[in-house]
Amino acid sequence: MENIVIIGAGGVGREVALIIEEINKVQPTWKLLGFLDDKSALHNTYINGYRVLGGIDYIATMETLGTVHAVCAISAYKAKVKIVEKLKSCSISFPKIIHPSVQVSRFNSIGEGTIVYPGVIMTTNIDIGNQVIISPGSGIGHEAVIEDYCSVLWKVNISGNVRVGEGCLLGSGSTILQNISIGRESIVGAGAVVVKDLPERCTAVGVPARVVKVGEYAG
Ligand SMILES: CC(C)(COP(=O)(O)OP(=O)(O)OC[C@H]1O[C@@H](n2cnc3c(N)ncnc32)[C@H](O)[C@@H]1OP(=O)(O)O)[C@@H](O)C(=O)NCCC(=O)NCCS
Repeated sequence: MENIVIIGAGGVGREVALIIEEINKVQPTWKLLGFLDDKSALHNTYINGYRVLGGIDYIATMETLGTVHAVCAISAYKAKVKIVEKLKSCSISFPKIIHPSVQVSRFNSIGEGTIVYPGVIMTTNIDIGNQVIISPGSGIGHEAVIEDYCSVLWKVNISGNVRVGEGCLLGSGSTILQNISIGRESIVGAGAVVVKDLPERCTAVGVPARVVKVGEYAG
């Protein structure tokens, strides 16, 4: 069993702990040491049986344990980039955490630190970058590309040949039609249906999706 910590003791962190437990039921893989979170009020409390060990800097004290793996359970793009960049100087690895029920074709690639929840269906020739979150019930079609640091929330439909740029957030229940490109750091509102390409750093909502904000990132 390899040592692992979860960065972020919020809702996503709890869900990742559950996925890790389910991976371990199938194949004992991870010794979950606990959570790291910069909210000091949480330190030394227990969340679902796992201790909040300290802030993110606590990871430096863990080097005596040998290799420590970390999973960044945070969906906010900028916060996550900051944490991952900060930890690059430590000898930390970011494994991908994929629920054991999810089928992954040998023609798909999934980057480091990416979290794939149960109930995700993906077909083939799909490229998912680093530090991406794919939430329960989402579907991803052939040849889709999802770049680094995207958060795909619950039950999103990503059709074939879609490209989602770095740091995008796709709200729950949204649908992206085939061959669409979404520019980096854009947000698609819950329930939206995206029928044409979206520019960078925009927010688009509704059916069909219309751009309501450009140039500011709410994620
Ligand atoms: C789109 C979203 C990010 C809001 O962004 P925001 O920058 O705070 O935008 P605002 O709340 O100012 O809304 C801007 C406009 O879009 C509308 N709007 C916001 N979200 C919408 C949605 N999902 N569908 C349709 N219209 C929406 C607002 O009513 C507002 O319209 P108005 O200008 O006519 O009043 C947010 O509403 C959303 O859908 N987030 C996804 C949440 C989600 O999926 N959560 C699941 C958690 S697991």
